[in-house]
Amino acid sequence: MEADDIDLDVVDLFFDDNDYNPKKYQDDISKIQTFVAGHHARMNKVVLVTSGGTAIPLENQAVRFIENFSGGKRGAASAEYFLSEGYGVIFLYRQGSLRPYSRHFAGGNILDVLEIREDCKDGTCSQLQVDTTKMPSLMAIVEAYQTAKNSGRLLEVSYHSLVDYIALLKASSEALHLLGSLAVFYLAAAVSDFYIPPSDMPKHKIQSTSGPLQLALHQVPKFLRALVSKWSPKAFVATFKLETDEAILIDKALGALSKYGHQVVIANILHERRYRVIIVTKEEQKELLLSRASQDQEHDIERVIVRDICIRHDQFHKGTEV
Ligand code: PMT
Repeated sequence: MEADDIDLDVVDLFFDDNDYNPKKYQDDISKIQTFVAGHHARMNKVVLVTSGGTAIPLENQAVRFIENFSGGKRGAASAEYFLSEGYGVIFLYRQGSLRPYSRHFAGGNILDVLEIREDCKDGTCSQLQVDTTKMPSLMAIVEAYQTAKNSGRLLEVSYHSLVDYIALLKASSEALHLLGSLAVFYLAAAVSDFYIPPSDMPKHKIQSTSGPLQLALHQVPKFLRALVSKWSPKAFVATFKLETDEAILIDKALGALSKYGHQVVIANILHERRYRVIIVTKEEQKELLLSRASQDQEHDIERVIVRDICIRHDQFHKGTEV
């Protein structure tokens, strides 16, 4: 048996063991299919952006979860830039993580810019006014959000646990296959590599009276193999690789490219990820670095990453047309 077949078998086994139930996600899947069909009819490019972490439940009726650091800034900002590049965007995000456009308000409190009109204070009308001087960028953000929504180019779908994420990733990938090389995968989510299979989980809340807790975590299969070779084999696929040790980053990125056979790995180091990434392909390694001035002005590195990916996707798409 080939190594590739073993990988795919492991993926199938994961679905068998994890109460993988597409019906549970039927509403989301129908929305995704309708979205893709609409863009297919217009021959539009569509990108699936994944964003945020995944929760790993420790109990069957879960009270506790293992989490990771990802807050979803990379995915939410990138979705905005893909929209401004003209793409349809399926934004698959972890519940509670940042979302396109609303991310700009995450650091503050939106209630601070809203005021009840003087003549409404007796409760006879229901109009609020917005003090845009307190947030000068508000108009532009609302306008960009409404343009994206009204043009039908943004579909947001949320997940919580690892299994939710993988079920929706599979369904989205299979739907996007319709678009062939017009489809892009931009997998920025920080997906757990470890989990507890349902058969190993206690049914009820783990009791602290039982003493120190020991957990045995199983390895999550890499779904990229299935995505690239089975679910959406004609698409352009960009994945992210996060490390904390620069010494292994590029080797890991190159290893992923040769193992999965996709187009791009965007390599980043945890504490540098807001201003530096390296675009790794089989042919080249290209550093994208925000200048000190851009960092001070809080510019998004995602604008530069997305521009680069769009150019590569365009070349890829043109290359597959002939
Ligand atoms: O959300 P932020 O705070 O803005 O942070 C952004 C980020 C650091 C999370 C993002 O830039 C990033 O690097 N995301 C990928 C994290 C990572 O290291 O992934 P990985 O090495 O575990 O996986 C590499 C790729 O394989 C990923 O694109 C993932 O989609 C895929 N994968 C992962 C696990 C798994 N079981 N199957 C997979 O296919």
